[in-house]
Amino acid sequence: MTMDALKRQAAARALEYVEDGMRLGLGTGSTARHFVELLGERVRDGLKVVGVPTSEATRADAERCGVPLTTLDDLDRLDLTVDGADEIDPDLNLTKGGGGALLREKIVAAASDRMIVIADETKWVAGLGRFPLPIEVIPFGLAATRRAITEVFAKAGVSGELAVRKQPDGHAFVTDGGHWIFDAHLGQIPDASYLAGLLNPIPGVVEHGLFIGLARVAMLAGAEGIRIVER
Ligand code: A5P
Repeated sequence: MTMDALKRQAAARALEYVEDGMRLGLGTGSTARHFVELLGERVRDGLKVVGVPTSEATRADAERCGVPLTTLDDLDRLDLTVDGADEIDPDLNLTKGGGGALLREKIVAAASDRMIVIADETKWVAGLGRFPLPIEVIPFGLAATRRAITEVFAKAGVSGELAVRKQPDGHAFVTDGGHWIFDAHLGQIPDASYLAGLLNPIPGVVEHGLFIGLARVAMLAGAEGIRIVER
């Protein structure tokens, strides 16, 4: 089975948790796109839901698939967010932001009663850090922000290259919020929760890709079928 077919399987499994009337957070990335497409099929069959997209890309996908959309400003809470991840550890802490949508993804996940993460088995790791950690930053004062992040890394016992994410044309990648991204090549993060807490207060850091304590369920698709991990 192809990787894409595995991603679609995980998305299909998550769809079973969707009920009529739900307010849904719609994740970003190739796995979340499968979920949006499958959700669109259910909507065409009469399912009544409303979604909040976590990126302009997902907004476009949802519109193409006929999923009704709203904004967080029009709702108190979301019932469920379904999103992908770049890494998932046994505590269901995540690295996210490979697609650059981490800021809206975290806002939406935090506003949800439940977050289901969907992925192929390759995203399951014993500890976070192999995938470069995305850190969304304000372009102003970039050198000062880089220094502050490096200091925090030393405190958390991690080190590695901090690279401004680039587009294929060589220009800086710009997020939906107009910010830039540092990708931190750390290799391993001994205490992701501790590092997350140190990164949060740095002026110039808008958000980072460590999602600590947000996911409640992981659906991991592999050759043997779907493995469901809950906490
Ligand atoms: C988007 O910013 C990311 O957080 C994605 O959710 C993550 O990169 C997973 O993407 P794939 O499903 O494409 O692997």
